[in-house]
Amino acid sequence: MPRLHVNIDHVATLRQARRSEEPDPVSAASICELAGADGITVHLREDRRHIQDRDVLILRKTIKTLLNLEMALTEEIIEVALNIVPNQVCIVPEKRQELTTEGGLDVAGSAQALEAAIPRFKEAGIEVSLFVDPMPEPIEAAAQIEADFIELHTGSYANASTPKGRKSELDRLATSAQYAESLGLRVNAGHGLDYRNVLPIAQIPQIEELNIGYSIICRSVYVGLDQAVREMQDRILAAAPPEAPDPSTLTRTKKRERS
Ligand code: PXP
Repeated sequence: MPRLHVNIDHVATLRQARRSEEPDPVSAASICELAGADGITVHLREDRRHIQDRDVLILRKTIKTLLNLEMALTEEIIEVALNIVPNQVCIVPEKRQELTTEGGLDVAGSAQALEAAIPRFKEAGIEVSLFVDPMPEPIEAAAQIEADFIELHTGSYANASTPKGRKSELDRLATSAQYAESLGLRVNAGHGLDYRNVLPIAQIPQIEELNIGYSIICRSVYVGLDQAVREMQDRILAAAPPEAPDPSTLTRTKKRERS
């Protein structure tokens, strides 16, 4: 079953709307963990539009699960990551004007910078993931430069407007996950996943971790963060294959039926 990593950027977005202290993503992270999240994801953007350096610093000291830092490959943010030592960094492309991360990384085009940065992360004990579109080229390039993980971009699947389109995006994700595994890469996924569309993604056997933010934080406005996280965990757990019945229980039941 994939682990659920909750992306809490949008808690910080709300705080930054007033440049105030509430709601605090650090408190939100604790609630997510208490509700059963397996990890916390934050994106420290160059423009600091939501998550701040202070948040990442305190999260590193307080969270009990795993910290995944999404980041662009700039020297400034690399230095922050090496100082904080998250469990994993996920390298994403970043554009100032975008509302959220739009596309996957051009891995081959950034190969030189990645080849220089990846050993620095690995030396610090940080696992490296690359956010990629579900296509063979960036996956091959990620394997070549020895990333640990890829994170498959599920945005096209989430945004597909017809069942046929969604099925073909799902197939593309499943094939990409298999291909990545065959090249020795580990596989995460995320972007645009919600309570209705997460199940088929959670059923792709290679996927180890789902990074989900927006849908959980939106739902938390209505039902509270604790319940929103629990409901998402339930959706993901529904992907588990049904357990084979315990033969000893079967025998006992049969004996009872006979007597
Ligand atoms: N994974 C990556 C690499 C992302 O950039 C984001 C958005 O910050 C997510 C996952 C989570 O996407 P969403 O907020 O749509 O669940």
